[in-house]
Amino acid sequence: MKLVLASKNEKKLREMQEILGHMGVEVCLQSQVGVDVDVEETGTTFEENSLLKAKAVMEASGMPAIADDSGLCVDALGGAPGVYSARYGGPGLDDVGRYRLLLENLKGQPRSARFVSVITCCFPDGSVITARGECPGTIAFAPMGEGGFGYDPVFFLPERKKTFAQLTPEEKNEISHRGQALRKFQKALEGHVSGAAERAPV
Ligand code: IMP
Repeated sequence: MKLVLASKNEKKLREMQEILGHMGVEVCLQSQVGVDVDVEETGTTFEENSLLKAKAVMEASGMPAIADDSGLCVDALGGAPGVYSARYGGPGLDDVGRYRLLLENLKGQPRSARFVSVITCCFPDGSVITARGECPGTIAFAPMGEGGFGYDPVFFLPERKKTFAQLTPEEKNEISHRGQALRKFQKALEGHVSGAAERAPV
């Protein structure tokens, strides 16, 4: 089965391919099937935004489309940046600018946080699969590590004494919010595929 990823983020694509590839599911970027939609993330929850993205790309491509809406929720900031993680601090900031702003805003505050990922897959027959994963951790006092993307250098795992950016891609996938959501999604997809086979006329 081939799924179109509603994203331009190649690092997200790689994390998805790594997990879903094992079950024979091929994932490609929307640009690889000629889809150039930039969905406005107008929802206030990860579930809403994930559905908006998957549905728009499924409709534009006519193929099953998968979306991940994810973000970092910091307890001391009332769950911010949350669904606004990619836009934290406004359009002038890059990944480094955004995590620096976060470190600034967290000075003197408790540092517990979690990453959340909601995966949604929309099929042309109207069916939808959704799966959510969460990974708890803390916000480091300074960035560490070179791997990953986004807030990875400041997301610290106390039990491993490392940030996400200090893990190998395999280690990150094992515990990350996206890895957890994708493994739940994978199980649901297996059920969906065998259910479709049962429903198909013989
Ligand atoms: P989205 O592409 O609209 O879902 O935005 C998600 C944003 O959350 C990304 O741009 C990152 O800033 C952040 N984010 C989500 N997942 C991760 C991750 O695994 N590592 C680091 N940052 C992440």
